[in-house]
Amino acid sequence: MSSFIELAKKRYSVRSYLDKPVEESLLLKILEAGSVAPSACNNQPWVFIVVRKEENKKALLSAYGRPWLAQAPVILALCCDASQSWRRGDGKNFGDVDVAIAMDHITLAAAEAGLGTCWIGNFQVDEARRVLGLSRNVEPVVLTPLGYPASQPPVKKRKKLQEIVHWETYGGAYPRD
Ligand SMILES: Cc1cc2nc3c(=O)[nH]c(=O)nc-3n(C[C@H](O)[C@H](O)[C@H](O)COP(=O)(O)O)c2cc1C
Repeated sequence: MSSFIELAKKRYSVRSYLDKPVEESLLLKILEAGSVAPSACNNQPWVFIVVRKEENKKALLSAYGRPWLAQAPVILALCCDASQSWRRGDGKNFGDVDVAIAMDHITLAAAEAGLGTCWIGNFQVDEARRVLGLSRNVEPVVLTPLGYPASQPPVKKRKKLQEIVHWETYGGAYPRD
């Protein structure tokens, strides 16, 4: 079993899929990984929609028109039920944060199983709502295809730690003794 950092580096956005089904047992394990994610007040405001029928996958292309989305054998739609998500005193709703953590668990569990995913946030919300048959309080937050990759992992481009880590206060330099 690979270490966590190896797994995190292994995951990448897969935008090309093999015509090979995802085993039901793997799919359920991946969904379970999403379900054990932490959430604000443990409210678990997420709704996971599994789309596998060819006509339903194709219908989702009206929300996100890249053919590779429907090329995968499964599309997952991670949604937030706003009637269940926790709000802080200043009104900030943590539902998107909760759903993002569940999505991260799902993408990492998929990578561990040798499956590919790709976060998709740039979709037409109204179209996704219509195709998925969502009620008013349930918002689609992110979509992902799920399937066996037909692509090779690219070299990861990330900012260096020195560019993003601040010590003690914003702008704080690395502590010297
Ligand atoms: C919140 C979020 C939304 C994203 N939306 C899209 C999207 O709509 N379409 C897409 O092709 N990739 C999308 N991505 C994937 C990013 O482009 C990708 O994660 C980033 O370039 C880093 O590459 P990697 O995932 O291969 O490490 C999204 C990623 C995140 C986290």
